[in-house]
Amino acid sequence: MFNIAVLISGSGSNLQAIIDAVENGIIKNAKVALVISNKDGAYGLERAEKHGIKNLVISGQNTAALLEVLQTHKINGIVLAGYLSILPPEAVGEYNGKIINIHPALLPMFGGKGFYGIKVHQAVLASGATQTGATAHLVDCGIDTGAILVRGIVAVQTGDTPEILQKRVLEVEHKVLVHAVKAMVEGRSNDLIKQPVTLEERFN
Ligand code: GRF
Repeated sequence: MFNIAVLISGSGSNLQAIIDAVENGIIKNAKVALVISNKDGAYGLERAEKHGIKNLVISGQNTAALLEVLQTHKINGIVLAGYLSILPPEAVGEYNGKIINIHPALLPMFGGKGFYGIKVHQAVLASGATQTGATAHLVDCGIDTGAILVRGIVAVQTGDTPEILQKRVLEVEHKVLVHAVKAMVEGRSNDLIKQPVTLEERFN
């Protein structure tokens, strides 16, 4: 059984997508064993509770507590799903190659320091880009710099506001993330590193 820990900071819709994929059998031989938030009251904690998943709040700075709870729960892989803290290098080292992040743009564009949440979509619209999307990538010690696994393309439409675009991209994030987590569980991450998958616009 592949034990997944999902780290969140907010509403947890990406967490929900993983929970649903496991419960629907899209992701097999795995379970979301642990949900960790760095923010008290994150709605994602309620989502975990509803599904009987162990959940707790740990400060992003408390490396020892994070590593201990991951070990106690025999975690095999980590998903950063809207986690707004930087994973400590000790954790990146311990779970190297088994940590996936979901970013709401087509990396390497509109990624890195300061590019998170609505800011990403504001920057995409300000740039005049005609397409954006979502990227699931492995986590290294940089910000949004790890190997790309799966991307999903979203066309920028006339009249898009950052909020409208964010909503459309978020739906694609869910599909991109499930595809990447399924590959990690099935030991296919390296295949994706060699040949990243791009999910086409049909999701729009
Ligand atoms: C979303 O805005 C997404 O772009 C990014 O962080 C946020 C998380 O959303 N990954 P949710 O908490 O998964 O709903």
